[in-house]
Amino acid sequence: MKRREFIKSSCVNCAASFTSILLINSCTTNKYTSNFLIANNKITLSKNEFFIVENNKSKELQFVILKPKQIEFPIVIYKLETNKYFANYLQCTHQGCELTPHNTLMVCPCHGAEFNTKGEVVTGPAETNLKTFNTTVDDENIYIYL
Ligand code: FES
Repeated sequence: MKRREFIKSSCVNCAASFTSILLINSCTTNKYTSNFLIANNKITLSKNEFFIVENNKSKELQFVILKPKQIEFPIVIYKLETNKYFANYLQCTHQGCELTPHNTLMVCPCHGAEFNTKGEVVTGPAETNLKTFNTTVDDENIYIYL
């Protein structure tokens, strides 16, 4: 491939990636919450944090983000199904940038790596899955173990 073709195709790929990130972003409601308790390396998060009121209607979120002081990067908790939650550490395993969660992917703004809701690599350059945290639930809360 000649230099000019390479540059042209790289620009087209960058533009397509940027556009898809914008589209994904526009469909996602992010919720950062500080309404959680932490004791003995266990976070307690109410299941109610997955609900917001929009236009006088209750809406269930697919994920919630929180940031305990004890750790450097936030944690995103995805609700996969009733009483099944998955907690991922939002630090990219490629070179350590903070990931941005979307509906079904966490995207790295630095070099474009993508991870699914279980922290598994979907798109490189990252080769290692994300750090995850064990979770349990009861009727009211989700517990995340650091
Ligand atoms: S730091 Fe995330 S892809 Fe490079």
